[in-house]
Amino acid sequence: MSTIITNSTAERKHSHVDICLNGDVAFSTPTTGFERYRLRHNALPEVSFADITTESRFLGRRIGAPLMISSMTGGYSEAAELNRQLAETAERFQLPLGVGSMRQALEDDAYRDSFSVVRRHAPTIQIFANIGAPEVAKGLSEKDLHIMLEMIRADGLIIHLNAAQELFQPEGGTDFRRVLDNIADIAAKLPVPVIAKEVGCGISGPVARKLLDAGVQVIDVAGAGGISWQKVEEARYTRRFGTDTRFSQEGIEELLNWGIPTADCVLEVDALRPKTAGTRPFSIIASGGIQSGLDIAKSIALGADLAASAGALLRALHHGTLEATITAWLQDLRASMFLTGSANVAELQNNRPIGDTAKQP
Ligand SMILES: Cc1cc2nc3c(=O)[nH]c(=O)nc-3n(C[C@H](O)[C@H](O)[C@H](O)COP(=O)(O)O)c2cc1C
Repeated sequence: MSTIITNSTAERKHSHVDICLNGDVAFSTPTTGFERYRLRHNALPEVSFADITTESRFLGRRIGAPLMISSMTGGYSEAAELNRQLAETAERFQLPLGVGSMRQALEDDAYRDSFSVVRRHAPTIQIFANIGAPEVAKGLSEKDLHIMLEMIRADGLIIHLNAAQELFQPEGGTDFRRVLDNIADIAAKLPVPVIAKEVGCGISGPVARKLLDAGVQVIDVAGAGGISWQKVEEARYTRRFGTDTRFSQEGIEELLNWGIPTADCVLEVDALRPKTAGTRPFSIIASGGIQSGLDIAKSIALGADLAASAGALLRALHHGTLEATITAWLQDLRASMFLTGSANVAELQNNRPIGDTAKQP
């Protein structure tokens, strides 16, 4: 683990998109866990399909559907075009949108337009700034926070907790000691909400509890079952150095697939919901391996407020099918709502799915 590689942040951001589109970076196992659940069929829905609405609310604002386009990119020249297209689509469907890590934009101002482009093309939706735990551990200045929020007129800041990614990243930052304290400082200081998010290994109930106590308002579980960021960084490592001998051959396969299934995370974090009036509520985003509107529906039925997707939507964008994909996912969602007798998202949230015990791991 002692190899130091000098590699610009911009170059790394570029290779992430390339590897996610062309590499074999999906979790082999575990899966998201959604396949263990069946939405509860209601033979008597007592609702007209035409009246079903996917409109919902997130952090006090109306959203077109309980789906967020997860943090992906920014910080190199071609990212501007990707972010423009993501922003236009998010605006069209009125979906919240996260930009990728803004670390590069704090290093210099060369590619700031690759972030600010989103606000120009999505003037009315919620857009979230993004920074990683290693930068939070080192300490962000008030100026850094101001730059990130101003660049996109952000509605909140997402802090991604990516210990496993950093562990595999050739130039990764693995000192996480001050992260929680610094998150609490940021949450106390910022005029907008802080969202804590993993990147594919999941946030457990006990970790979510610490984050909520530190002032975080939203937990995006980003669990296992979609893209493994250990595999993405492993691909970058082997491209440069060949076979990875940093870990044992026996251990590496399990480390590359390390993480808590998305569905399990949602259940654990939902169990922390305040039961008494007067306790601060929080929101849950289910992400990590979302592949359809059925996954969105199950996320909500398991307790999330919305779902979010990165990899599947990036692939759709790449194939020119982003809007068609979201349209189809929302139709899946409406179908699930109809068949569970849920006229709106809040009703779906009260419609707990049936666990398929035959498929429990
Ligand atoms: C190309 C790409 C770049 C990403 N960059 C970031 C990032 O900068 N910050 C972040 O919080 N998550 C980032 N992610 C992680 C996603 O937001 C998401 O948490 C993860 O990929 C798991 O979700 P998925 O299975 O739907 O892809 C990135 C994802 C992709 C596909």
